[in-house]
Amino acid sequence: MCGIVGYTGSAQAAPILLEGLGKLEYRGYDSAGIAVRGKEDISVVKVTGRIAGLCEKTDNGKALEGCTGIGHTRWATHGAPTEGNAHPHLSNDGRFAVVHNGIIENYQTLREELKGKGYHFDSETDTEVIVHLMEMYYKGDVKKALIQTVNRLQGSYALGVLCKDEPDKLYAAREASPLIIGLGLGENYFASDVTALVAYTRNAVYLEDGEFAELTKEGVSFFDCLGQPLAKQVSRITWDVQAAEKGGYDHFMLKEIMEQPGAVKAAISPRLKNNAVVFEELKLTKEDLAGIRKIVITACGSAYYAGCSGKYVLEALTHIPVEVVLASELRYSNPLIDASTLLIVISQSGETADTIAAMKECRAKGARTLAIVNVVGSTIAKLAEDTVYTWAGPEIAVATTKGFTTQLAVLYLLSLYFSKLLGIAGEDYAAHIRILKSLPRLIQQAIDMNHSLPKLAEKYHRAKSLFFIGRNTDYAAALEGALKMKEISYLHAEAYAAGELKHGTIALIEEHTPVIALCCNRRIMEKTLSNIVEVKARGAEVLAVSYRDNPKILSVADDFIFIPEVEDLFSAIVEIVPLQLLAYYVAKANGCDIDKPKNLAKSVTVE
Ligand code: F6R
Repeated sequence: MCGIVGYTGSAQAAPILLEGLGKLEYRGYDSAGIAVRGKEDISVVKVTGRIAGLCEKTDNGKALEGCTGIGHTRWATHGAPTEGNAHPHLSNDGRFAVVHNGIIENYQTLREELKGKGYHFDSETDTEVIVHLMEMYYKGDVKKALIQTVNRLQGSYALGVLCKDEPDKLYAAREASPLIIGLGLGENYFASDVTALVAYTRNAVYLEDGEFAELTKEGVSFFDCLGQPLAKQVSRITWDVQAAEKGGYDHFMLKEIMEQPGAVKAAISPRLKNNAVVFEELKLTKEDLAGIRKIVITACGSAYYAGCSGKYVLEALTHIPVEVVLASELRYSNPLIDASTLLIVISQSGETADTIAAMKECRAKGARTLAIVNVVGSTIAKLAEDTVYTWAGPEIAVATTKGFTTQLAVLYLLSLYFSKLLGIAGEDYAAHIRILKSLPRLIQQAIDMNHSLPKLAEKYHRAKSLFFIGRNTDYAAALEGALKMKEISYLHAEAYAAGELKHGTIALIEEHTPVIALCCNRRIMEKTLSNIVEVKARGAEVLAVSYRDNPKILSVADDFIFIPEVEDLFSAIVEIVPLQLLAYYVAKANGCDIDKPKNLAKSVTVE
């Protein structure tokens, strides 16, 4: 999704803005632009496509004079990805430049009103109304004009504003779209994402909805919609610069796959003390949990699939019924939710618009909310009554990997923690703790055992369509495996509950159709085996994901991905890792833009 950066200080702004935008590339975008207050006026440079084009046009920023500026990467929503629609947008009098993330829902009404008053529009975007409103309300006081402007806006926005009349100042405003102020020495910044700030400062202030900031190189002041000053807390950014770089890998995705043993360890280790799960951050008490009749998990995409996996573990260990509902569906379904529901919200970014909306809907109905989030200080983290961080570190590749496995790790931990809190932890509690401790090692083994994946990818990368099948926990992992394949390799891939094949899908199996069969849940493996035989009989090429000691699988499948021995309930977190690698190598063989797949964005902040 779109990215925003802003800089004011004594250095040349443009190279800093370009570097900041470079750090936001991973979010997905299709055009970009910067605006800098030059000697007399605001200069704007925009391109369609990559930031490299912007660097080329501006001699890496050196061609643009000025120490205060704003930048933007745009992921098209209203209007095609053209230069005209790219941000920053300029007011008709050239006095204001604006960058915006989010969606202005009432832009059409505002557009008509502004056109009626003689303002002309250069783009099809919803954003452009903002800059004309600024011009309309400006009577010599930018702060006042900004407050009046945002009072007219409905929807979501993170705004960065530059005014020609105040050459050393920037303004920022936020409503339902993240914006972080970076505090430097003799220079200050804003960005929609901390990854754009870490190279410059560790001190950050997270703007809340309805808050504004005024930045000069000497300092930053915060105010509310009445213009009243606000005291804000400064937070420390703990992510390091290297964590947001490729570190010798060809792609961020590969680096992040390889980081999973460490990331899962970071999620689990601090929460295991004296052979018990501890969640010091949770306010949810034993009494609160005893009053819970149903758990609803909501999320989007991979986070939803983490929920699908987590359901098996939560139900098995807590005996509380669990429903997993897509956030985009839940928000409009008038769900049967009340104070006896625990809503678990899962989100890597913490900024997914549908997830936020579903969460608000359920909160309004009285649900108790617990969020599993990676990005500290994100909207979902702040909205939830309880937040458990996954501690995965920055995830740059658009396709999530360590974000997903750390979500699973936290769901496993929560399941064990709740079982103890409810007083129903079984005899296997201690064994389960040992298994959780061993997961980082098992994930590493699953990586080490599969050096033949690039070769397998060579075999499968030209397939028209791939089917992923499995039952129970294997089915949940199959859903995520198929999504990984689709999003980065652009091959059609579908996951099916193995027992469901014969109810229709098997009609699609023909000679050489690849079927990836997940057989890691021993309790149900025999059943999946029968489904493998069925597809084999119709000519399918079967790639089985299983254990080495499985003679039946060895005798029926054509190819193998092996994983180390792992308890059924927790097997998904291990078996998904080689499937991420398979998707990676297939995408590589297909020459795809792995870290930034087409049409996708890292953080989906629109509905
Ligand atoms: C897939 C992927 C997406 C996200 C989804 C939710 O690889 O990354 O499906 O899982 O957009 O995002 P978060 O977790 O940020 O709410």
